[in-house]
Amino acid sequence: MEKILVKTPMKTYPIVFEEDFSALENLIKEQNLSQRKMCIIADQNTAKLYGKMVTQQLERVASAVYFYDFPAGEIFKNLESISRFYRFFQENRFDRKTIIVALGGGVCGDMAGFAAATYLRGIAFIQIPTTLLSQVDSSVGGKTGVDFNGTKNIIGAFYQPELVYINTKTLQTLPKREFAAGMAEVIKYGCIVSRDFFDFLQAKKQDIKNMNDDILCEMIRQCCLFKADVVSKDEKESGLREILNFGHTIGHGIETKMDFQLLHGECVGIGMLAVLELSRKRGDVTKEEVEEVKNLLEYFGLPLFVENISVENIYEQLFLDKKVKENKIGFVLPKGIGKVYRTSDVKKQEILEAIEFVVKA
Ligand code: GLY
Repeated sequence: MEKILVKTPMKTYPIVFEEDFSALENLIKEQNLSQRKMCIIADQNTAKLYGKMVTQQLERVASAVYFYDFPAGEIFKNLESISRFYRFFQENRFDRKTIIVALGGGVCGDMAGFAAATYLRGIAFIQIPTTLLSQVDSSVGGKTGVDFNGTKNIIGAFYQPELVYINTKTLQTLPKREFAAGMAEVIKYGCIVSRDFFDFLQAKKQDIKNMNDDILCEMIRQCCLFKADVVSKDEKESGLREILNFGHTIGHGIETKMDFQLLHGECVGIGMLAVLELSRKRGDVTKEEVEEVKNLLEYFGLPLFVENISVENIYEQLFLDKKVKENKIGFVLPKGIGKVYRTSDVKKQEILEAIEFVVKA
């Protein structure tokens, strides 16, 4: 399948789509990255599944391959983990030519990328995303970082990888819940940029659920095209890129206040429903459109609401989000399905009612 190029002021790099890891060797050669130390970073689950396979591939092109694994989960996405990464880098005398290889989902990619961005003021890194969410969103575009003091992704850097290598077959081993969480980000693209893509998802939902290879590839590729286009126009989120945060403002608030018991994608789905309802009340979205999104999220087994959590607490959490500017919360609001606009002109009452829509008493 044809590569997609992400073109940013920082770097131009390819996203490639494969059905195994065998093309890694040639791609690394093509990118002039061979004969260097390479360090695979993976969480312990991904390490078990793919660590050996990727190591074998890298051994063909690296001067030496190192492996570092860490416990899986958002609760480990913090500076303590990064500190342990740095220690490993130092102990093994990694230098400016060493390449970090992030093998795994969003947590792994964000952390390995952040460590690469900051160690020795920046060393090269490669993304090998193995979850749906990381393949369609987090591995592309150079957002790296960690959570800090109860707030998501508040420490970080924009730092682009050298290459994003997507092996779509890794989705076959992905737990169903993780796959569903990725689908929330996929549905997000339909909501923000393309009614046609949303219709495609509705039409092909059964094939997607049944993991039809061709349909999955088409879907992931289309998401990467959307993302590459937005990131190429606004690498550092000074405007347009904010649309990718659709559903994330309230979603992040819920994720944090639920102590990360829900997955990021699950919270994004709930956050999208909240702002769809807000926009319905503004007259920008019909009841039927809210139902369409809700039904699609539900079809993929995503939660539609949260329980045992205070609306006010979620509201207060929104002010700690990194999208707050001058004490105003930034929102991405829909106009129908396939179009959004950015605004911080949203009244407290509207926000509270939007949160209430997705919180069950
Ligand atoms: N996940 C949103 C972005 O990369 O901008």
